[in-house]
Amino acid sequence: MPPAPRQILVTSALPYANGSIHLGHLVEYIQTDIWVRFQRLRGHQCIYVCADDAHGTPIMLRAQSEGITPEDLIARISEEHQADFAAFNVDFDNFHSTHSEENRQLAELIYTRLRDADFITTRTIRQAFDPEKQMFLPDRFIKGTCPRCKSPDQYGDNCEVCGSTYAPTDLIDPISVVSGATPIEKESEHYFFQLGKFKDMLLGWTQGEHMQPEIRHKLNEWFEAGLQDWDISRDAPYFGFEIPDAPGKYFYVWLDAPIGYMASFKQLCERTPSLDFDTFWQADSDTELYHFIGKDIAYFHTLFWPAMLYGAGFRMPSAVFCHGFLTVNGQKMSKSRGTFIMARTYLDHLEPEYLRYYFAAKLGSGIDDLDLNFDDFFNRVNSDLVGKVVNIASRCAGFINKKFNAQLSAQCTEPQLYADFVAKADTIADLYERREFGHAMREIMALADLANQFIDERKPWVHIKEAGRELEVQDTCSVGLNLFRVLIAYLKPVLPNLASDAEAFLNIEPLQWDSIAEPLRDHSIKKFKPLMTRVEKEKIDAMVDASSENLGTKQVTEGPLHDDPIATEIEFDDFAKVDLRVARIVKAEHVEGADKLLQLTLDIGGETRNVFAGIKSAYAPADLEGKFTVMVANLKPRKMRFGLSEGMVLAAGPGGKDLWILSPDAGAQPGMKIK
Ligand code: MSP
Ligand code: ZN
Repeated sequence: MPPAPRQILVTSALPYANGSIHLGHLVEYIQTDIWVRFQRLRGHQCIYVCADDAHGTPIMLRAQSEGITPEDLIARISEEHQADFAAFNVDFDNFHSTHSEENRQLAELIYTRLRDADFITTRTIRQAFDPEKQMFLPDRFIKGTCPRCKSPDQYGDNCEVCGSTYAPTDLIDPISVVSGATPIEKESEHYFFQLGKFKDMLLGWTQGEHMQPEIRHKLNEWFEAGLQDWDISRDAPYFGFEIPDAPGKYFYVWLDAPIGYMASFKQLCERTPSLDFDTFWQADSDTELYHFIGKDIAYFHTLFWPAMLYGAGFRMPSAVFCHGFLTVNGQKMSKSRGTFIMARTYLDHLEPEYLRYYFAAKLGSGIDDLDLNFDDFFNRVNSDLVGKVVNIASRCAGFINKKFNAQLSAQCTEPQLYADFVAKADTIADLYERREFGHAMREIMALADLANQFIDERKPWVHIKEAGRELEVQDTCSVGLNLFRVLIAYLKPVLPNLASDAEAFLNIEPLQWDSIAEPLRDHSIKKFKPLMTRVEKEKIDAMVDASSENLGTKQVTEGPLHDDPIATEIEFDDFAKVDLRVARIVKAEHVEGADKLLQLTLDIGGETRNVFAGIKSAYAPADLEGKFTVMVANLKPRKMRFGLSEGMVLAAGPGGKDLWILSPDAGAQPGMKIK
C-alpha cells in the first residue's frame, strides 16, 4: 500500500543578498532538495520555497559603496543566486525576496497582531553612533583594540585572536568601519518582542519531536539562561520595512526574514489557483511545515520564529532540521588556501552531480560538521558512481544493443535477485525520510556491488563468443539493466540528471519510487551514451587555484575583496611596510590549466621574481614582455599549484578585459623604490 499523500511545505534558509553562494551554503540547499525530491517521488505534494534575505545594514552599505541602489544590488544578486541554484538542480517551486510587497504585508500583519496582543514593548537604549555618517552602528561595523589581549583591529562583539566577547563600548580606540570616525554613544527608542511571555508554550513545544536532540539540549541551556526580550527595531537609515505607526523605525532584518518563507509561498499561491495560503498557515493546519537550516541560526528558528507565529495566530513548524558546517580538507573554508569555493567556480570545473552525491554520502540527521576532503571526493565519486553504478549499464548495454537488437529478454531469469533489490525500497525510503542520506547511499552501493558480482559470475563477455550461449548473455544483461534501473530509482532524489539520462537510455517514463515493482521484459532500449565521466584530479586543482587566483592581483579600484563590507583605513605605518618596486617584465607566459593566470618573470634590478598574476583576461603575454610595472616586492611568497608566487603586481580596473597593470613612465629603472 502506498502511503497516503501528504501536503508538505519545505524551506531552506534565505541566503543573504550581499554575497555569492558558496559550497558551504550548498550543503543546505542540496540536502533540502534531496529530501524534497524524495517526497515528490513518493507521490506526496511537496512544495519547496526560498527567497533572498535582502534587508539590513551590510546590504545598504554595499550598495552605497558600489554607487547603486539597494534594489539594483539585490536584483543582480537574485539573478546570480537563482542561476547557481538551478545549475545544481535545486528545484524550488518559488524563489522570492524579503524585499517584496507580500513580505511587507505579512510582516506588518504579524507585527500588528503581536503588538495588539501586548507582546511588544519599547525601551530607550544607548548605542554606538557614527557622528560623520549619522547612523547607528551594528557591532560588526565597529573595530578597535581588544580590551583583553590588546590585539588591534578586532570587531565590536568579539576578538578573533583571544576569543573573548565584549560590548563595543569596551573596545580600546574604537573606530567606525563605515567612516573611520570615532563612534559616540547615543540614545534611541527601540521596539522589543517579549519572548519571555512565550516561555511555557516554548517549553512544551521544544519537548516534542520538533527538532533534533542536540538542538533540544541547546534550547534547554537557553531556557536556563532566561529568555530575553528581542530588539526588533533599527533606526533610519536602514534598508528594510518601516514599522507601522513608528516613522523612522525599521524592522530589524531578522524580524522579516523568516516571514519571507510565508511571503514566497504566498507569491506561489497567487499564481497557482489550486494552492491555498491558509490551508498551509492557519493555526490548526493539518499540512506539514519543515525548515532546513544551519546550526548557527537555530535560536531564531526554534525560539523567536515559533513564538512569532504562535503569537500572531499562525501554525508552528512541524520540525526544524539543523545541519552542521562544511569544512574543506579538515579546516574552515579559507580564501588564502583556495578552499572558499564559490558555487560558480565549482561549476566552471566540475559536474554538479558529483557534489550532490558526495554531500549525500556524508550527510546524516545530526548536526555534526561535514568535511569535503578532495581525495575522498575523488575516490568516492569515481569508485561509487562511475565504477559501480554507471558501470553496470555500460557492461550490459553494448551486448543488448549490438547483439540483440536493443531488446531485453522476454522474462527475468533472476526473479529472486530482482525481488531482493526491490525489497530494499522501504528501508531506503525510511532512511531518506529520516535524512540519513549517508546510510541510504551505503545501502544502495551495497546493492550495486551485488549487481556487479552477478555480472562477474555470469561472464557475458566470455559466453558471447561461445556458440549456443548467446541467449544466456541476453538474459544476464537484461537482469543487469533491470537491477541498474532499480538503483537509478533509489538514487533519483540525489542525481536527477543521471536519472533522466538513464530513463532516456532505458526508454522508460520518468521513474517514481514505486515504478520498480516489476522488471522490464521484452522491452527495447535506446543507444547507450556514457552517463557520467570520472572526476579528474587536475580539475579539482584548477578549481582550488581559481578560488585563490584573485589573490594574485589586487584590483585597486574594485570594491573591498574581503569580508569587510567596507575597507578599513590603515595607518601610515602599515602603508610604509609595503615595498613597492618598479619591475621589468622579462618574460610572460601562459600557465597550462589556469583560466586567469599569467606567469611573469620580473626583473627588479639584479634580482628576478616569479609571479602569477590574474590578468590573462586583459593581456596577451607578448603585449607584456619588456614593459615596466609596479610590484609588491616584500609580500610573503605563496605556494600555488603551478609553483611559488613571489610577489604581486598592481593592476586597476573593473576586471575582465578592462584591467590595466600599473605601468610607470619612461625613466623608470628596475628595482626603483616607489613611495
Ligand atoms: N539570511 C540568513 C538566514 C535567514 S532565514 C530566515 C542567513 N543567511 S546565510 O547566507 O548566511 O546562510 C544561509 C544558510 O546557509 C544558513 O542556514 C547557514 O547556516 C548556511 N551556511 C552558510 N555557510 C555554511 C557552511 N559553511 N556550511 C554549512 N552551512 C552553511 O544565515
Ligand atoms: Zn583579544
